[in-house]
Amino acid sequence: MDYPLAITISVGCCSVVYVLIRYYSSKRAKLIEVSETWWTPGTENSVSNDIRPYEIVFSEELVKDLKHRLKHTRSLTPPLKDVAWNYGTNTDALRKLLDYWADDYNFQERQKFINQYSHFKTNIQGVGLNDSPAGLAAYLIEKFSTGTNYSYKSREDGGFLEKYTYDELIDNLMIYWASNSITTAMRIYAEMFIKENFLLGKLINSCV
Ligand SMILES: *[C@@H]1O[C@H](CO)[C@@H](O)[C@H](O)[C@H]1NC(C)=O
Repeated sequence: MDYPLAITISVGCCSVVYVLIRYYSSKRAKLIEVSETWWTPGTENSVSNDIRPYEIVFSEELVKDLKHRLKHTRSLTPPLKDVAWNYGTNTDALRKLLDYWADDYNFQERQKFINQYSHFKTNIQGVGLNDSPAGLAAYLIEKFSTGTNYSYKSREDGGFLEKYTYDELIDNLMIYWASNSITTAMRIYAEMFIKENFLLGKLINSCV
């Protein structure tokens, strides 16, 4: 094959490939409609979306109610032998944290400590759900354990006390509990797995 012909064929092939890539990527890049969802009674316009300074208050009533709930959790299912945290939160470690929360956590002192920082609150498409404090703790301490160091999964105590004190962990729980905001904080997971958003994520990844 002579040289100019080879060049012509190569350029021709490249053009065809280029046109095909453009065609398929333009099809793929079709805008995905992501619908907004509203998670609370009322309509979107009936509540303010202003961002407001917010003080976290552990009222006497809140503390009394919380202690009652902590003391009256249904009995926790004991962990399997030697399972550590491989099946999620170890209930022996959870019980210790719940007891500390009810008996030793100094609500007044920690409220002052937490409010040294500025907190802001807005209405993010609805708040709700009053998780049990034990459920909230079980969910979050598993993140503090495994998320801090994956190898902590194999420790009975979950390892997190190497990095945090009970007070620090419970401060986190109290911020969610007092502001009743675990639902909105978790919304990201629901959003992530909505079909349209999942496709959007895939699309963004494929572009990157
Ligand atoms: C995680 O814990 C293991 C011991 O269980 C330790 O060897 C490792 O350095 C830790 N990793 C980090 C990032 O702290």
